[in-house]
Amino acid sequence: MQPQNINFQQFQYFPTSVYIANVPQFAKTVKAVADDSFRRIRKEMKIPKEQLGVMSYNFHDDPRLLDFSNFVLTASWDILKNQGYAMDTMKTIFESMWAQEHHQYSLMEQHVHGAGLQMVGFYFHEAPATTSRVCFYDPRPGKVQINLAEADVSQATAASQIVNFTPNLGDIYFTNAWLAHSFSMNVTKKNFKFVHFNIGVVPAQYVNSAPQGINQPSFAVKPLKVAADGAGSSTTHISGTSLSNQVEIV
Ligand SMILES: [Fe+2]
Repeated sequence: MQPQNINFQQFQYFPTSVYIANVPQFAKTVKAVADDSFRRIRKEMKIPKEQLGVMSYNFHDDPRLLDFSNFVLTASWDILKNQGYAMDTMKTIFESMWAQEHHQYSLMEQHVHGAGLQMVGFYFHEAPATTSRVCFYDPRPGKVQINLAEADVSQATAASQIVNFTPNLGDIYFTNAWLAHSFSMNVTKKNFKFVHFNIGVVPAQYVNSAPQGINQPSFAVKPLKVAADGAGSSTTHISGTSLSNQVEIV
């Protein structure tokens, strides 16, 4: 008996998910708030024109962003709920939301958000620079340490170390806060701008209001289909954009 003659059942656990949707209806308002914040911080901090990258102030509590901020909090709550966390008595809150502006040759290096945060995300309120990619890194240090060479780094596979996406105007990204990310270099003359947000989770009573998702419509997130108890086989299923749409950077 040879192994190639055996049909193995494949079980996949501990998945890493990136969730992407296109919601351009928020772009105009978010741009107005971000532009105001950039103007103010440039003036107050006397930021030189030649500085490659500029970060705005935090603006998640700007009243003009009420709808957008609620969308981000509700989507974050629903994603965590769908992932299997006990969210019914919990509430998602903003740690921060701010805009970044990357001039030619600016980039955002690989990093992860700690300090107890649970979700992170990005919103592209302006048409992104064509060369900039959203990159996510394998979060498993054991695998990173022993990785073999990949057969084809242009394909996103179970062997991949990095995957990247090309952002579009109006795209919003969510992922768990433990997932390291970066933005590749903007080599165009067009400024690359986006909004970054970081979300925490606290017991609902701490913020003196009902948790999201109980009496309001939910943002639809398809649950992962992963066998939870090892019984029976499961179909390999990666939530979010199909792997075939992702291209790994070299
Ligand atoms: Fe970040």
